[in-house]
Amino acid sequence: MLKEKLLELREQAIENIGSADGLKALQDVHVRFLGKKGPITEVLKGMGKLSAEERPVVGQLANEVRKMIAAKIEEKKADLEAKLLEMKLESEKIDVTLPGRKTVTGNHHLLGSIIREVEDLFIGLGFSIEEGPEVEQDYYNFEALNLPKDHPARDMQDSFYITDEILMRTHTSPVQAHTLEKHKGVGPVKVICPGKVYRRDNDDATHSHQFMQIEGLYVDHNVRLSDLKGILTVFAKHMFGADREIRLRPSFFPFTEPSVEMDISCFRCGGHGCNVCKGTGWIEILGAGMVHPNVLRMSGFDPSEYTGFAFGMGPERIAMLKYGIEDIRNFYTDDIRFLKQFNRA
Ligand code: DAH
Repeated sequence: MLKEKLLELREQAIENIGSADGLKALQDVHVRFLGKKGPITEVLKGMGKLSAEERPVVGQLANEVRKMIAAKIEEKKADLEAKLLEMKLESEKIDVTLPGRKTVTGNHHLLGSIIREVEDLFIGLGFSIEEGPEVEQDYYNFEALNLPKDHPARDMQDSFYITDEILMRTHTSPVQAHTLEKHKGVGPVKVICPGKVYRRDNDDATHSHQFMQIEGLYVDHNVRLSDLKGILTVFAKHMFGADREIRLRPSFFPFTEPSVEMDISCFRCGGHGCNVCKGTGWIEILGAGMVHPNVLRMSGFDPSEYTGFAFGMGPERIAMLKYGIEDIRNFYTDDIRFLKQFNRA
């Protein structure tokens, strides 16, 4: 009887092991057949009732069945574990030959990048950067720059007035006056001043009511026009190519005397004449001059002791010339297709 029972248990166990579809199910089979309260233990407990000849036979068979079930479970366990590992390896497979995902990065705005290039150049020449307010007093925007109230040259720059005495600055030149005041009559003063300026202009391809300027100022003992010419030559070659030449033409600004306009030899045709330089071989880049004695005096510098030069340029114009951009509004309308062409770092 017990013998048949054991053989039946063996069959059942084999079947159960075969159909266990995971480690948990297999563990259940183990507990069910080989656990302390399992059927084999039960059989062994009932052995007391057997005859002396039967006892060792059944005992041996029970041990064999137990061992055999345990072995089958181990075998199945190894099998399941191998399958599991295989599935894991399959699901975590990496195809190292796939192309990488591209991270999309932006680039600096062309205008910012031109300004930084100019800043870097002048920092290398010993200048430092100075900024001033965009909402400015009439005094700094005009009067301190030798443009008294009703001076006709005020008409050169149509202004956005906020009150009679306060306006949006029309140029970065007022930073000259602020900086000179700060130095309390003691040179050297060597700064460049980038920033936004505002004019009452109707926006079109070449005009904008708001644009950028970069001002330069160097005041010290014995600063001469030839120093200005030297610095501007370095600037022109750096921005437009090593074989650029410059020329200075007489001009007028109330805050400089003498005043000049600087041209560079055309970088497109090299000076022979083309549509970029309108056939002249020269391109106008910026206004400059020797700081007017009145400007020095009004901001606390003694013109008999100090002289200086100043210049003012438009980075939009520099960028437009350099890259053949025909509409100034491209700088302000944030069209990514335009901006991403200029990845200059
Ligand atoms: N402020 C002038 C303008 O906006 C540009 C300029 C000309 C600045 C000559 C200067 C200078 O410092 O010396 O038109």
